[in-house]
This record gives sequence, C-alpha cells and structure tokens, in this order.
Amino acid sequence: MPAYSSSVNNRKNASEEKLKIEYLLDREAIAKDDIQDVIEGLQQPQKSLPPRYFYDAKGSQLFEAICQLPEYYPTRTEAGILQQYAKKIVDRTQARELVELGSGSSTKTRYLFDAYQSLNLPLTYVPVDVSGSMLSATAEDLLKDYPQLTIRGKVATYARALKQLGENDSVNNSKRRTIAFLGSSIGNFSVSECDCFIAEVSSALNPGDYFLLGMDLQKPTAVLEAAYNDERGITAAFNLNMLQHLNHRFKGNFCLDNFRHRAIYNRAKHQIEMYLVSQKAQTVELKSLNLKVEFKPQETILTEISRKFNLAEMAKYLGKRQLKAIQTYTDERKWFGLLLCQFAT
Ligand code: AVI
Repeated sequence: MPAYSSSVNNRKNASEEKLKIEYLLDREAIAKDDIQDVIEGLQQPQKSLPPRYFYDAKGSQLFEAICQLPEYYPTRTEAGILQQYAKKIVDRTQARELVELGSGSSTKTRYLFDAYQSLNLPLTYVPVDVSGSMLSATAEDLLKDYPQLTIRGKVATYARALKQLGENDSVNNSKRRTIAFLGSSIGNFSVSECDCFIAEVSSALNPGDYFLLGMDLQKPTAVLEAAYNDERGITAAFNLNMLQHLNHRFKGNFCLDNFRHRAIYNRAKHQIEMYLVSQKAQTVELKSLNLKVEFKPQETILTEISRKFNLAEMAKYLGKRQLKAIQTYTDERKWFGLLLCQFAT
C-alpha cells in the first residue's frame, strides 16, 4: 500500500477512535407516542401538550434566544456556578467518563472540560441528545478545542441511552462515571416522570459513580414570572410556536393570533405553569390525526411546567433513592443549585 494512503487511513482511524456517534432512536415508536400524547392531551378537561413540541428548528432557536434574555437568569447563573466550581467537581469525582443528558450545544459543559484539561485528566464524553445534527456538529467543534477528549455520542432518548449504559456496565464497568443533567430540565418533569427518570439514572450507575444535577431554586414570584414573561416577547413566541409546529406536523389549522401566551407561578406547587389561552370560541382541526378540538373563550392548553426546587429537599429525595448528596454548589443569591450525588448500594 502506498505510504500516503496508509497515513490517510491511520489519520482516519485515529479520528474515528476519538469520535463515535451511535443512533438509537426508534423513530416509529416515537412517532406513535407523539400522536397519542397530542390526541390524549387535547381531549382532557385541562388540555395539555407535551413540552417536547417546543423544539422544532425555530423553537430551538427561540430557546437559545431565551437563554440570553436579561430576565431569564437560570442559564447564566448555572454557567457561573460551573465556572466557579468545575475544578472542585472534577477533582472530587475523578470520573473518567462524563455522560451528559440533553447535551445540546454542550456550552456550559465546557467549564468541566476546561477543568479536566487543567488537571491533565483524560475524559470520555458521552453526550446524549435527540438531535443528531446538533450532536455531531458540537462533537466536532469540541474535539478541535479539547483534543484530549474521546467522544462517544448517543442520539437517543434519555431512557434508551440510560438503559444501554446500564447494560454495557455489566460487560465493562472499569471507568468511574458521572451522569450530568444540567439546565434544570428536571423541572419540566412531573413528579411521577421525575421518579421514573431518577430510577433510570440509578440503573446506569455503579456504586461510587456520580450524578450531577442542575436545578432552579424557589425564589420570589416576581423574579420567576418575569423570567417566563420577558419584555421582548421571546417566551411568548416560543410558546405559540408549538402550535405552528403542530400545524406543520399534523396538517393543523391553529391560528396563532387566536391564542395568547400566559405564564404564572403556582406557589402552592412551586412551579411555573405555561399556558396558551384561547381568545375566543373556536374549533381547530388536526387533519392527519383526524381530530377536531373545540375551545371555549379563555380556555387554556397547559404546555409546560417548570418546577422550582429546594436544595435540601431535593437532597433528601435523592438520598432515599440511593443517590447520596455529597456536595451542593450555588450562587450568591441562591437562585440556582448544583447537587453532586454519589450512588451507593
Ligand atoms: C428547558 N427548561 C429547563 C426551560 C425552563 O425554564 O423550564 C424551558 C423554558 N420554558 C420557557 N422558558 C424556558
């Protein structure tokens, strides 16, 4: 074989070793669940739609814009905490594998990579996301900036990825693992979804492994409501875009002008509730679902809950599920918290 082609192969093999992406999405099952959730949600007395319908291409861009808003403090507050404590977290865990659920653009995770780099520790990064294009573009950028990384991405739902990680452990459990779930996405789960998710996380951990959880904390109503009712109306556009997404997906005729965004803080439940409010009596059709939905004036669709937590209570909750809190990190105002837990038998 000519020398040049063997060196090309070597280079290719070397870069393949650095980056592998596995596709684990069962598109048929997901499409089935998507349809069922829309039909069931719109037929309940309190109409609801699953928040995952926010995230088509436009919705994802709007979410990126929300994260930059002056009123939306969670992203920048969590980034600040990570920037301040990443080295301590990495030093404490000494994990050689970092699984990130819902990795997106991995922006905040870069503080952890910086810490690995400065401590001169090798790391296998396992980003998990349902967007394959986002995952592969991000992985390539990361390898340019952090050549010491090995990346093993999974295009998958959290449940599928965690199941596979748990199964592989019985074959090869030599690496200390941290599973990170940042951004307070845990707040978008109902209590029962949260119970189920935590059980799935635990099943992917071995004794001694870590779970790093980011959560938005309870605070005055005015601060919370401002974060979800920004002055520029980006959150309103994000909420309404869900209807556009449904129109596109299911041949619908939602008229966006006939709905308004509403976000309120339910103090008793410690959660922001986002609604779309029908501005008049109207019937909406989703042709490909063979579904007609009647709306009364002021009738609401619940599109998202965003729960706000108390660090000590969350530590107690996780402790009962074999995830022992070993360290908490927060900002000066105590608006956002990171909880580092260790899995014990
Ligand atoms: C993704 N998730 C954590 C955001 C939140 O704050 O609950 C979604 C969001 N909804 C409106 N603004 C942001």
